[in-house]
Order: sequence, then C-alpha cells, then structure tokens
Amino acid sequence: MKKAQRLEGIEMSLIRQINALATPLSTNLGIGEPNIEPDETLRDFARRAAATGSWHYTPNAGSPALRKLLAAGTPFDPKSEICVTAGTQEGLFAIFQAFVDPGDEVLVPNPGFVSYATLARLAGATPVAYDLEPPEWRLTADAVLSKITPRTKLIVVNSPSNPLGAVVGEETLKAIADAGPLVVADEIYREIWYDAPPPTMRGMSDNVIVVDGMSKSHSMTGLRLGWVMAREALMKPIVTAHQYVATCASSFSQSLAELILADAAWNAGWLERVRAQFRDQREAALYSIERELEAKVPPPAGAFYAFAPVPTCDTLFLAKALATDAAVLVIPGVAFGALGEGFVRISFAASVEQIGTGIERMGRYLRALGR
Ligand SMILES: Cc1ncc(COP(=O)(O)O)c(C=O)c1O
Repeated sequence: MKKAQRLEGIEMSLIRQINALATPLSTNLGIGEPNIEPDETLRDFARRAAATGSWHYTPNAGSPALRKLLAAGTPFDPKSEICVTAGTQEGLFAIFQAFVDPGDEVLVPNPGFVSYATLARLAGATPVAYDLEPPEWRLTADAVLSKITPRTKLIVVNSPSNPLGAVVGEETLKAIADAGPLVVADEIYREIWYDAPPPTMRGMSDNVIVVDGMSKSHSMTGLRLGWVMAREALMKPIVTAHQYVATCASSFSQSLAELILADAAWNAGWLERVRAQFRDQREAALYSIERELEAKVPPPAGAFYAFAPVPTCDTLFLAKALATDAAVLVIPGVAFGALGEGFVRISFAASVEQIGTGIERMGRYLRALGR
C-alpha cells in the first residue's frame, strides 16, 4: 500500500531515532521531558480528578471552568478565545490545519523545534527558515521580517527555545507581532526560566496565537494537556480543526489541570521548586560542558537544554556513535535545522549525577577521536 503523498519525505523525527538507540546502560541526555516526579499534592489532585471528575466528553474547546482559570490574567475571553488541546503538539497541528494552504510559506526558526517545518509540509506549505546566530542565538526582528513575502501565512516564534534555551527580547517580539502575518507563539517553556520570566506574546496583537501546556511546567508529558489562546475570529477555525483531530482533550487531564490552577499558592510553590531543580541541573551541565568538552555555552535563559559546539561536521554520525559506543544519548544539532550542524543538544532534564556521567562519557569519546 502506497502511503499518502503528504507523508512523502516525512519520517519519524531524528530525536525519536536517537532515543531508539538507548539501552539500559545508556545515560540519556537526549530527553525532552522534565525529570521531576509528581509530589504528594499533585498525586492527590490526580486521585481527586479520577474520583470526582467527569469521564464524559467536554465541550470541544475544553471545560468552561478550566478555560476560565487559563484566561485569568490574560486578555482572552474564556468563552470564545481559549481552546484546551491534547498537548501543545495537537494545538499546533490544529492551527496549521486551520490557516495554512498549499503554496503558503511558514517562517520557522533555524535552529528550531522539529515539528514546525513538518506541520507546514503536512499542510502543503513551504517552511522558510529564519536564522538565529551562534554563539548567543539572539533573534533580531530583521532576521524574521526580511523573510516575509506576499506568500507568508504564519510566523512561528518559540521562546524560550527548544533546542537553544534562548529567550527572545520584548522589542523583537513586538516587531514580529506587528509585522502583518499571523504569528504562532509557542510558549511551552514559559514557566522554566532562570533569571527573569521571559516576555510573553499574549495580547501583543490580535494576530498572535499563543500555544502553551502543562507537559514541561508540571511534568505531565503523558497526560497530553495543552491550550491555544487567540482572538475569537482566529479561534473559530482552530476549534473546528481541533474537533476533527481530538474532539476534546482528555477530561481526566482537564480535571487535573483545573485542580492545579485553582490552588494558586501550591502551584506557585511547585513552579519555584521546578525552577530551583533545573537551576542546579543547568549549573552541573554548564560546568561539565566547560570541563569535559572544553566549550563555553551561553547559559540558557529558559527551558532545559544546552546547545553545545562539538568538533565535527557530522553531528548525526557523532550522536549515533555516542549512543552505541559511549552509551550517552544527545541529539544532533542538525535535527533542528541546518544551522544546528556542529552542535549537539544536551538536555539537562536529568539528575546531576547523570549529567556528570553523560558529559564525561562524551568528553572521553571526543578526546579518543582526537588522538
Ligand atoms: C518547543 C516545543 N513545542 C511543543 C512541544 C510539544 O509539547 P506537548 O507535550 O505539549 O505536545 C514540545 C515538546 O518537546 C516542544 O519542545
């Protein structure tokens, strides 16, 4: 059976391919999810959600009570401007299906999260990369605006960034919000920051669609809980697309999210603890990278990734060799776009011991190669 043409050239992401090389002896620094276990309160919320929450369909856009909690403190109307989705990924899929046509162009970050270009291709459009430059990976408005053509339908912005950990400045975000095309702001790492909360694109212009979720902030990757925020006129086609992908997000996960957000004091404390743990792990990663890889990486301002330079021009080959010969998993930078070649993404969503061991194994392997 021949697969549909829209899947021609679309494979499982390189991240999945590298993670598939894991063995019980591997140290996994390729992972994109928090190494944080739910505490007793979070488990209790889950028990309560299971015991008392409804297991029926919710409205397509999500339970009204959860939408109200999500909208608090934002300019969005919970009745018509919030849609709860089965993870941020499903939200992104619905947005692309709602707005992107064959022949359109979608501006995506390079290096950037792998899904954006794939979602553009699945919708029949052409992804057009805008560049972030090493070593700081600072984004300038001009890098994005200079790529806009009459065919540009969407601009995707991801801050804090996977894989760079870089945060985009407020002025740059504002210039992009006002540039004309629709903007998708992927703010899934918004709560994971180190020195100061990153600026948000929420409410920056009526053109901005914000996607967010609980996978990273609450270590809930498997519960598939995300949301989209946009002005009503933009939201209508998004909810229509979402209806035909997911119907609604899991009602259990929605009940759990509702209990989390309703307890604002606990939630604030949880997020502080998450950031404190990642701060320690970031420090361990930067220390080992400098010592073992003899590389200085600008401290990521958010998310839990360090994008480290390595002395090779084929990082896919290197990442596979590290997985099979050195028992350490990292993601080749080229998985995130051409500008990622020469770098690997080291996730520090791992214990301080694993970070030390994994980067030491990398260092030993690279030193042996250099001999
Ligand atoms: C930048 C970015 N956006 C979206 C997602 C998807 O997250 P979710 O689990 O909410 O679908 C990820 C997951 O790694 C991510 O890194």
